[in-house]
Amino acid sequence: MTMLTIEGVPLNEIAKKVGTPCYIYSRALIENNWKAFEKSHYKICYAVKANSNLGILNLFANKNAGFDIVSQGELERVLAAGGNPKNIVFSGVGKTKEEIKCALQVGIYSFNVESWPELERIQEIAQLMNKKAPVTLRVNPNIDAKTHPYIATGLHHNKFGIELKEITHLKSYSHIDLIGLGCHIGSQIMDLEPFGEAIDCLLNLAKKINSIKILNLGGGLGIQYKDEKPPSIKEYLSFIEQKLKDQPYEIILEPGRSLVGNAGILLTKVEYIKETPYKNFAILDAGMNDLIRPALYDAWHNIIPVTLHTDIKPKLYDLVGPVCETGDFFAHDRELAIKPDDLLAISTVGAYGASMSSNYNSRPSIAEVLVDKDEFYILRERESYQDLFAKEKLNGLYVNG
Ligand code: LLP
Repeated sequence: MTMLTIEGVPLNEIAKKVGTPCYIYSRALIENNWKAFEKSHYKICYAVKANSNLGILNLFANKNAGFDIVSQGELERVLAAGGNPKNIVFSGVGKTKEEIKCALQVGIYSFNVESWPELERIQEIAQLMNKKAPVTLRVNPNIDAKTHPYIATGLHHNKFGIELKEITHLKSYSHIDLIGLGCHIGSQIMDLEPFGEAIDCLLNLAKKINSIKILNLGGGLGIQYKDEKPPSIKEYLSFIEQKLKDQPYEIILEPGRSLVGNAGILLTKVEYIKETPYKNFAILDAGMNDLIRPALYDAWHNIIPVTLHTDIKPKLYDLVGPVCETGDFFAHDRELAIKPDDLLAISTVGAYGASMSSNYNSRPSIAEVLVDKDEFYILRERESYQDLFAKEKLNGLYVNG
């Protein structure tokens, strides 16, 4: 019988202390990814949405990383984690007045502006606050990133960025400092070619606008979940360096998945084995509310038994959760030798795992753990049932109009 470990720490020991389900992250793997990006000397702004746990953000803050945020919630997290506001870029199509005001107040590095009405709004608020807002225009370059349609963002019919053709006659604004151009064409991108097209597009446009000092290439580098062959971080960076040789611009990258994706697992327990004439189900204690990627994108994650049994015959299983939806699955038809109470590790969930989780079916948020050398630390405690409905009122709260 062999036992699966993460950096030498047996997973069953973590389960015993913390319970299941729980997310487990490896500090060493995150730091390896960071080191690979850091070699570039570009400004690396970690995309907070990939994994926004304060402990993870703190790891990056300690490296003096930049951050790519998309809401005031993410801004508050970065500040609470010790991140430097001067290293923050603010993306997203729906920035509210309050969010813009707050970002101007703390003095972020740049707004990634996604529409003309947003630019007008930033001008108005900056004027009221007597500040100059640093702005990078996010371009929609109509480039096919060849990824899942839900995470492709650089095509004409996507809601993101400003139409390339519209960026010819730029109005000047008294309280806007137009310092950069940017784009983010999608996520989990497997080829370098679309990145190359995006760079060409930005370079062409940048030549025509005097004030441009920065090119923000967004995030999007894919990682391996199954047998895909994404470029390594090193290959991705040297491709960009090659394309940008002798160009005068400061380069910003916004990686999320490629920094944390491979550094996390979801540890879950088999509650029941249910065999029917049609299918065998392994019913797990984790559900789609904890990890929604399989349900939402039909995403494939490797599922590894923590204990290897030699005395059980492998069978094909659908691995499902306890949530009342047929979409509540992690995998179909996986061959595994398992029994009730076994632990399973769902792999490559460091990005867009915990950060996309919900309380659906009134399931409390699960614990998050960081393994650091041969120790482990709780980065988020499991929510209690009281936490679940702490903000709800039995009789409603009277709001005096
Ligand atoms: N910058 C911007 C403006 C973004 O919208 C994103 C991701 C990133 C950077 C980081 O991209 P990455 O390096 O992580 O590919 N929930 C989906 C992925 C959504 C990505 C959204 N935007 C998933 O689980 O696959």
